[in-house]
Amino acid sequence: MNPVAGLTIDHVAIAVHSIEESLGFWRDQLGAEVIGFEDVPTQKVRVAFLRTGEAKTELLEPTADDSPIARSLAKRGPGIHHIAYRVADIDRALDDLRAAGVRVIGDAPVPGSRGMRVAFLHPGTAGGVLIELVEKTGGPE
Ligand code: CO
Repeated sequence: MNPVAGLTIDHVAIAVHSIEESLGFWRDQLGAEVIGFEDVPTQKVRVAFLRTGEAKTELLEPTADDSPIARSLAKRGPGIHHIAYRVADIDRALDDLRAAGVRVIGDAPVPGSRGMRVAFLHPGTAGGVLIELVEKTGGPE
């Protein structure tokens, strides 16, 4: 069985310099409902969650100069940073993907936002897209 079969989009993440300023577009002009904020120390980001149907939209603001989001902003400016897919068993998914020749960033899943375990696939073997896999562990929605 393919461990990522039936995968669904959990969220689309957008790198921003400032969540506060970005909400001027996403919330005030576009009308997206803000459902929460969270600091994610493992990624050195602050996240704003927007309700956008089944999948969320996340605004990512760096909290340190060496944050991956800070580096992305310096290189490419604001914009889509990654797409996250939900999987049932992230350890198994990563094992199977590695066996299939897909490059995984890091050795093991790390704690992400909303109590999830997350890992990233390298764009070099993922169609040029930074893909995050997330496994829900029963935390808040
Ligand atoms: Co994400």
